[in-house]
Amino acid sequence: MARVYNFSAGPSMLPESVLKRAAAEMLDYEGSGQSVMEMSHRSKVYEGIINGCEALLREIMNIPDNYKVLFLQGGASSQFAMIPMNLMTGSGKADYVLTGQWATKAQKEAARYGQANIVASSKDKTFSYIPKLDPDTFTKDADYFYICMNNTIYGTVYHELPQTGDVPLVADISSCALSRTLDVSKFGILYAGAQKNMAPAGVTVVIIRDDLIGHPMDITPTMFNYQIHADNGSMFNTPPCYTIYVMKLVLEWIKNEVGGLDNMLIRNQKKADLLYGFLDSSNMFKGTVVPEDRSLMNVPFITGHE
Ligand SMILES: Cc1ncc(COP(=O)(O)O)c(C=O)c1O
Repeated sequence: MARVYNFSAGPSMLPESVLKRAAAEMLDYEGSGQSVMEMSHRSKVYEGIINGCEALLREIMNIPDNYKVLFLQGGASSQFAMIPMNLMTGSGKADYVLTGQWATKAQKEAARYGQANIVASSKDKTFSYIPKLDPDTFTKDADYFYICMNNTIYGTVYHELPQTGDVPLVADISSCALSRTLDVSKFGILYAGAQKNMAPAGVTVVIIRDDLIGHPMDITPTMFNYQIHADNGSMFNTPPCYTIYVMKLVLEWIKNEVGGLDNMLIRNQKKADLLYGFLDSSNMFKGTVVPEDRSLMNVPFITGHE
């Protein structure tokens, strides 16, 4: 069997051992006589899968007890609306840093619900760097401060977090989740569409500090209310059952075969060094990002010649 190397940002390659295990368990999951695709999400067997997935994620990411883990649908893009609908109810203001297409989309969506201030942008140089941030320019009474931590298309990453004081930091980690250790306690919300680093497409993981739940706008649809999903253990409606199962397998792979996120960082660093080293010495290709803001996950490069 010839498997290709697929370097797409996402949906992206899954570990072969995960695919093999999913294949082996396809017709009969652990003696249940059925595929995970076919079983009730309210069954005891499935309860074990979703609870096991959450427990592993908490262990691997070292998620503090005062954070909820939610398995939602609608992609990372739904969070562009869900975040303001649930958080922009204090001053009605939030700060955004524009570092690429995804942060820009998030800011545009938030501006439909409140005052979404742009505190910095790197659009002037095609998003090839992370803007230097001055906390004096931040909105003091903002309901949250928003960043896209790893910019999939432009290949930049925040190596230092903005100093937002008491203002909760909200980060889109769709393209860097599980790529290295993060101090979850520094964030109000972390969220990621799964299809890049965690699982097949279909689930969006939201890690949210307890105090940020429960203050939605009146117009918030029930399905966009974090509280509904937190109160129902991500089972208010049918969750993306099979995707969550594959995510559990990926987390088991990270724990048992990779040896956790510190080892994952070493693997990623090795791969990135190889590629950046080549680009830096090439006459033909060159990376587009300033060296200090380079992502380990996404590496854009050009020839500069038609
Ligand atoms: C950083 C980032 N945020 C958001 C998205 C949108 O995710 P989704 O397709 O799950 O809505 C993507 C890519 O697809 C992304 O790379």
